[in-house]
Amino acid sequence: MKNLVVLISGRGSNLKAIINAIESRKINAKISLVLSNKKEAKGLEIAKNHGIKTKFIDPSFFSSREGYDIYIAELIKKEKPDLIVLAGYMRILSDEFIDAFEGKIVNIHPSLIPAFQGKNAQKQALEFGSLITGCSVHFVTKDLDSGPVIIQAAVPVLPEDTEETLSERILSYEHRIYPQAIKWILEGRVKVEGRKVIVKDAKYGTIPVN
Ligand code: GAR
Repeated sequence: MKNLVVLISGRGSNLKAIINAIESRKINAKISLVLSNKKEAKGLEIAKNHGIKTKFIDPSFFSSREGYDIYIAELIKKEKPDLIVLAGYMRILSDEFIDAFEGKIVNIHPSLIPAFQGKNAQKQALEFGSLITGCSVHFVTKDLDSGPVIIQAAVPVLPEDTEETLSERILSYEHRIYPQAIKWILEGRVKVEGRKVIVKDAKYGTIPVN
């Protein structure tokens, strides 16, 4: 069975959506480890409640980002993951980490990348005055929030939106597209050609499915 390692920093609602997809057999995989850089991450509780092994690794014990990443990379390698899933993991990964798992790391970002990369993407969309924003699942490369895009969903921005209401609307789409992208990858249907991702037999519409 395919194996996932999920990295989180907080609430863990995307982690929960992935767990739900596994438990309802939409995704044929298991999560062998959920790793957090934040002790208080709510997602750690979610994982424990579903019988998934968790680890909190404290960044303050390391003198550099690279040192931390090399340490967690060793822990992750022991799990022999097919895919490393960043689900609200709010640390920039060092080149060393990305090199160790080239092509095997995915991330979800709350914008239609390349728009609004980095932090507070929803706030950036509101401040810019966008009428449409969304969310993207992409392969992680050394350029922040810019790797090849696997799936995106467009989400309207409403005149009365606040950062909270917009984030919540985007999040409900994140919970749909992340399990879908993971399913595609684990089924071996995803091919990357340069920047372009080709998914075998995907149905493209407002939200790509199948
Ligand atoms: C999600 O909105 C995710 O897209 C975002 O953090 C949130 C995590 O929520 N990630 C980023 O902004 C990465 N640049 P969750 O912990 O409930 O899944």
